Amino acid sequence: MKTVVYYFSATGNSLYVAKYLQAALDDAELRSIPEELFHGRFDAAADCVGFVFPMHCMGLPMQVESFMERLMIAGSPYIFAIATCGAPYIGQPFIDAETILAAKGQRLCASWYVRLVSNYLPLGDIPAEWRINIRARLAERKLKKIAAAVKDRNPHGTWQLLRKLCRRIHENWKEARQTLDEKFRCNTDICTSCGLCERVCPTRNISRPDGFPVWQHRCVNCLGCLHICPVKAIDYGEKSKGRRRYRHKTVMQKELLHDFSGERADAGKPPIGKSAS
Ligand SMILES: Cc1cc2nc3c(=O)[nH]c(=O)nc-3n(C[C@H](O)[C@H](O)[C@H](O)COP(=O)(O)O)c2cc1C
Ligand code: SF4
Ligand code: SF4
Repeated sequence: MKTVVYYFSATGNSLYVAKYLQAALDDAELRSIPEELFHGRFDAAADCVGFVFPMHCMGLPMQVESFMERLMIAGSPYIFAIATCGAPYIGQPFIDAETILAAKGQRLCASWYVRLVSNYLPLGDIPAEWRINIRARLAERKLKKIAAAVKDRNPHGTWQLLRKLCRRIHENWKEARQTLDEKFRCNTDICTSCGLCERVCPTRNISRPDGFPVWQHRCVNCLGCLHICPVKAIDYGEKSKGRRRYRHKTVMQKELLHDFSGERADAGKPPIGKSAS
């Protein structure tokens, strides 16, 4: 196979980017990181290996870090990473990716930020439609260049500013993992028990014993459950109240749901690595 693109996406931005690359490159296969983790598929054999993910708290999403640590990459492929985000350059996701890859004798050949919409509602509302459209146009222009660079196997680096501060914020966020979902509340007066929140969750962190979501404290804070709820029954503390919900307009709701059918590959074994499975 020529290209494998591993992606993680809660509200569709990173899936849009992964799908754009698939259309632009020859023979590219997309693989969902939560599903690869669930099924224990950790072998990558391709000429080109890509990772597309959202920036989370100025760094890698927890499941992306955990997956990269476990992934076994054959040979010396061209490896690239793309972080979708609301505000590029202030973060250190590619430094962490480089470190993980270096420990396996691999090299991150190219990295890019792609600015789209921030889905982190506690920090701000979803921007107006005209602003989303401008960002979408700029992102598409950038993606054209990225696809050409990947095709030609060109190297590319990017700024990663305020690294020390970003590292501290990112580490504190990861350390709080067990408590990240304590702020979620479901308004049971309006919840229709549709189950979408459960099916979008990449860590199977939501159970619904009485039809309503109950969070199980293995959250990776992606906010997929909050954004997908069709009746806005889910809030994250006070700050998400009254704010708009978001999904990238080219991505369908069903594309964000996970297929966790079959037995989990490491059922009964303790989790490997330091973060999220
Ligand atoms: C927990 C969390 C933390 C985030 N941290 C950042 C950040 O540090 N910088 C940034 O620009 N965007 C941040 N965002 C916004 C996402 O990176 C952005 O919306 C991304 O494109 C979402 O991708 P997705 O739709 O594929 O999930 C954060 C989002 C979440 C949920
Ligand atoms: S997505 Fe919303 S309406 Fe559906 S079960 Fe979850 S909280 Fe209830
Ligand atoms: S509970 Fe919600 S925020 Fe946490 S991992 Fe699942 S979908 Fe993401």
